[in-house]
Amino acid sequence: MKILIVGGGGREHAIAWALHRENPAVQLSAAPGNPGLATLATLLPIPADDIDRLTEAAVSGNYDLTVVGPEVPLALGLADRLAARGRPVFGPSAAAAALEASKAFSKDVMKAAGIPTAASQTFTDLSAALSYIDSHAEPLVVKASGLAAGKGAIVCVTRAEASAAVRAMLGDGRFGEAGRTVVIEAFLVGEELSVLGLTNGEELTLLPASQDHKRLGEGDTGPNTGGMGAYAPVTPATPALLQRIRDEVMLPALIELDRRGARFAGCLYAGIMVDPTGAPFVVEFNCRFGDPEAQVVLPMLEGGVTDALVRIAEGNAASPIPVRPGASVTTVLAARGYPDAPEKGAAISLPAELPEGVTVFHAGTTLDARGVLRVSGGRVLNVTAVAPTFAEAQAKSREGADAIAFDGKVWRRDIGWREAGRQWG
Ligand code: AMP
Ligand code: GLY
Repeated sequence: MKILIVGGGGREHAIAWALHRENPAVQLSAAPGNPGLATLATLLPIPADDIDRLTEAAVSGNYDLTVVGPEVPLALGLADRLAARGRPVFGPSAAAAALEASKAFSKDVMKAAGIPTAASQTFTDLSAALSYIDSHAEPLVVKASGLAAGKGAIVCVTRAEASAAVRAMLGDGRFGEAGRTVVIEAFLVGEELSVLGLTNGEELTLLPASQDHKRLGEGDTGPNTGGMGAYAPVTPATPALLQRIRDEVMLPALIELDRRGARFAGCLYAGIMVDPTGAPFVVEFNCRFGDPEAQVVLPMLEGGVTDALVRIAEGNAASPIPVRPGASVTTVLAARGYPDAPEKGAAISLPAELPEGVTVFHAGTTLDARGVLRVSGGRVLNVTAVAPTFAEAQAKSREGADAIAFDGKVWRRDIGWREAGRQWG
């Protein structure tokens, strides 16, 4: 079997790792991949947003399956193009990927389907947006409707901040086209969860819940990022809560998308706020595996991932996926200046040996002409540890992260702090 993985970050390295672990004989390719992926896959030097060349590569390479990691190629229609050429693909159509690529559309789907989410309104007109802000209670969240690499949501404590945010987006063109439409919504209080489900558009196989750490700094301070670390499973994500998220959030979204002619097949990611009463509210939907959530969720699965991706690409339901006992924690090592202006180029020194159960996924790395591994992106490496207990996984991920050196390394030592507090009482 030949599988092409589109993307070149930590999520795609984790996907390749999971597929290889299940079936070392499978021939993996990655476009564009990274030096970590290169140990498992043949790299094709095609950017993840060049859907013309990716389509040609998938067809001429006769891949049995293409797995699309990031949202951008999905929003551009890569899955539609591959389907039109008869190539099996894991990842939704552009119409279904709009659930992530347009927050205005996503909110509309949620309202139509009665899915619990923050009250909101969508604007393209600045003065209408400003008067909405004047008549609503603080705090408010202002979001660029389009794709903004995790930076498009601004939590505004005061109305003045919210007004400045909509002026920046609708007036000054911050975030470009992505910010020409804004969603203004009420602030949700609670604890966030990431719930991923593999779906053919109708049946849904939930994966263990995880928790991302979006803020740059320890104690959840500083700017929002793509995610500085994650862990799985999450104690408050009880079977009863996951059942509610399936029944009240994910299945209604799939039904509503299907009703609109935008059947969603792939990985549906629900970003959930669990309110103080234990009720789930949707913060956002994504149309793909989370990054860094994939780096903790996939290592918790005991096989059946390849089969699930193939079955969904063929339009079938995924079989149940066995989950191993224990826990998994990943720590992100980022570059100095992330998320605004990460510095590239520092040489990376990896320890010769890693503790048992620790895997390093590459995210923003490159090999220079002399074979030196260097920083090439904001999030550089993800140190994932799997262990029988959360505390061991947390300690090992931290030790592994500590043992890797590069100039400007930025990381959080407190990944999983909420879970640690619960477990230590
Ligand atoms: P989003 O791009 O919609 O995922 O938002 C990024 C992050 O901003 C989320 O993961 C939350 O931490 C925060 N956020 C977004 N919307 C809200 C909201 N309505 N209430 C509270 N926090 C939010
Ligand atoms: N970690 C958040 C995301 O993948 O969007």
